[in-house]
Amino acid sequence: MLAIHGGKPLRNVAAEPWPSWPVWNDVDRSRLVQVLDSGIWSYSGPAEQACLQWLDNYFAPCRSLLVANGTVSLQLALEALDIGYGDEVIVPGLTWQATAAAVVDVNAIPILVDVKSDTWCLDPELCEAAITEKTKAIIVVHLYGCTTDMDAIMDIAKRHHLYVIEDAAHKHGGQWRNQKAGTIGDIGSFSLQLSKVLTCGEGGILLTKEDRLWERLESLRNCGRRSRNAIFDATGGQYGQEGNFIQSGNYRLSDFQSAVLLGQCERLDMQNEIRAQNAAYLDELLRTCPAITPMRTDIRETKKVYFNYSFNYNPDELGIPTDTFRKALSAELGFKVEPSNQPLNDCSLYRPLTKRRYAISKEYLAQIDPARFSLPVCHDIFKRTSVMFHHKILLAGPADMEIISEACKKIAAHKDEFRH
Ligand SMILES: Cc1ncc(COP(=O)(O)O)c(C=O)c1O
Repeated sequence: MLAIHGGKPLRNVAAEPWPSWPVWNDVDRSRLVQVLDSGIWSYSGPAEQACLQWLDNYFAPCRSLLVANGTVSLQLALEALDIGYGDEVIVPGLTWQATAAAVVDVNAIPILVDVKSDTWCLDPELCEAAITEKTKAIIVVHLYGCTTDMDAIMDIAKRHHLYVIEDAAHKHGGQWRNQKAGTIGDIGSFSLQLSKVLTCGEGGILLTKEDRLWERLESLRNCGRRSRNAIFDATGGQYGQEGNFIQSGNYRLSDFQSAVLLGQCERLDMQNEIRAQNAAYLDELLRTCPAITPMRTDIRETKKVYFNYSFNYNPDELGIPTDTFRKALSAELGFKVEPSNQPLNDCSLYRPLTKRRYAISKEYLAQIDPARFSLPVCHDIFKRTSVMFHHKILLAGPADMEIISEACKKIAAHKDEFRH
């Protein structure tokens, strides 16, 4: 009998727990204490400088900046590119709400475009069809375990003179044709929120190759202060500057967060490698399971990175609804199994019409109304086919991947239990 119906689960998690997240050690603890003892608790301290050095080296030829989170990083990227009222920005319909929320936060218009069913990333053909004379930029999201077709997107952007912002919140260290995710477009944006593969609890990274953009971003993250020739006083205040200020706010990160981030940076490649090996093995195992199609693997993705491990499930094949399948899998394995993000044209956390600040005009409200967009593939993924779980599971061993595929096979073999 299946665990969901009272049978014995395949995994006894009390005896054999799954890996936990986040991962830290005594070096991280001592780095935190060092910040405490130094009294330099705010921004641009020694820990932040050490992180930036690591990031600049890792993401070369891009230069990096640290910001408060992966939502404001997108907002600042748009502001640095001077995108605002009247401009349209193409956003994939399947992503965390922040990707579109950042666009309305700069008073531009998010144009929600459908995704590919085998990668769940922006569909380049539909993206090109959505371009108008108002379009200024495309935000791509390298969602969960896949990377957007960056050859197609960069080609479209070049032909239509558009900026590309990579929302790489799920792709720290991933590579497309040996180029790191976040370094291919004009600006790369990452979240460092706790669930992410690179984390300091909350935080964000911005990347760009262009000095002019880097300087604008540096100014935007720091109340409009100019970065060059900055002179800091003992409390982190700044003086001695003149001219060319731009309006902004405080989007900085504290040195405590940077102190935690440094250790995570040092572990990133090693953890990514373990996750990628396990994911490749799991893909292979799941190909032998009824009703399951692993995500598409593209040889141009030269380094796969997994925020969540996901696959497509066909409920018609087993006669078990997808939500029930997810619950049954979760009961066998003892970890959370989820659907994809909600499509942005009907997402509980993306309700731009509820915010007075966006009520600039009736015309603008109509333009940002998410319900005006049609996203059939996103809805099919969310409602019918998506099954996924957190990347920490991929930090287990190959034998643990075998249990996951066994659980899928067990559910298929017991499909008759769902008839009653
Ligand atoms: C694709 C994507 N973009 C942006 C964000 C926003 O990041 P943050 O939570 O750090 O603001 C997230 C967070 O989950 C995300 O998944």
